[in-house]
Amino acid sequence: MEESEPYEDLINPLPTVPFGGSPPPLHQYKGFWFRKQTIQGLLATHDHFVPLPTDVLLCSFQKTGTTWLKSLLFSIINRHLKDSLLSINPHFLIPSLELTMYTDGKPQSPLFIEKTSSSCRILSTHLPYQLLPPSVKDSDCKIVYITRNPKDFIVSFWHFMVSNKHHHPVSLEEAVDGICTGVLPGGPYFNHVLGYWKERLEGPSKRVFFLTYEDLKRNTAGHVRRLGEFLGCPFGVDDENEVDEIVRICSFDTMRNVEVNKDEKLLGAMGKSISLVPFSLKSLFRKGEVGDHENYLSQEMIECIDKVAKEKLSGSGLNL
Ligand code: A3P
Repeated sequence: MEESEPYEDLINPLPTVPFGGSPPPLHQYKGFWFRKQTIQGLLATHDHFVPLPTDVLLCSFQKTGTTWLKSLLFSIINRHLKDSLLSINPHFLIPSLELTMYTDGKPQSPLFIEKTSSSCRILSTHLPYQLLPPSVKDSDCKIVYITRNPKDFIVSFWHFMVSNKHHHPVSLEEAVDGICTGVLPGGPYFNHVLGYWKERLEGPSKRVFFLTYEDLKRNTAGHVRRLGEFLGCPFGVDDENEVDEIVRICSFDTMRNVEVNKDEKLLGAMGKSISLVPFSLKSLFRKGEVGDHENYLSQEMIECIDKVAKEKLSGSGLNL
């Protein structure tokens, strides 16, 4: 008899749409679109994850600066270990709930993090705030959320798909359509952003640190200091060199040029790696610039995304 897949009964009846040129499709779960494996990870996270009050949860939509922020959080919290980033990719230091810890629809074996982390665990997720487990919402763990200009995001997302010879090929037109209609893996993009933005405004004070890729670029050292404060490990006035060193080690140029991050091999074997979908470490470091969409998007595409952004963010006080 064939073994059933995890959460098959819950996933099979969900609305389904194709995305990109080939299967697998996306399934709509509680208003958001995901691949089946992500929903399995999401449901297993709900069933098994027990947050600790000291946990730090890095939340983001993919391609908005997750890797950079992982490096920064790791080195702010584990200052004496920051050089690890010169030999280990940050995704191996900070696991994702639904993509590594509970991938395959069940808890996976202990991760590297347990050997390295000092005072607290740093974990990450691409899940929207709306779909975080109630145990996380009710806990005292801190959330750091990063987002990005939607046009730069979509250009980054599209390149990521293409550069990894992804098995779900997607054209730039399809990607732009995805951000405008909301139908792309993890989308709708703006609902994701607004979930965390609303929690930052309305939730317990000092629970969500909300930042943009653009602000982080503009003043990385200032944000390292603010994050240290938020996380309960502030830098002193004399720690200028320490802050500068963190900024340098985590910078795009350093990270891109360390040997480990030049690896072109595809990672992503289910449950045995850091992601469900195959990608190379090299593809995580493409250009690292603000405004790159101007080199790729047509005027019509820009207008479409701007219009949706305006409609969705209207009245929120957020401008991306
Ligand atoms: P681009 O494709 O625009 O270059 P994520 O880590 O969420 O997948 O986001 C990937 C984006 O962050 C890519 O953007 C990547 O180049 C950029 N990036 C990765 N590391 C970075 C760093 N250390 N500093 C700045 N940007 C970085």
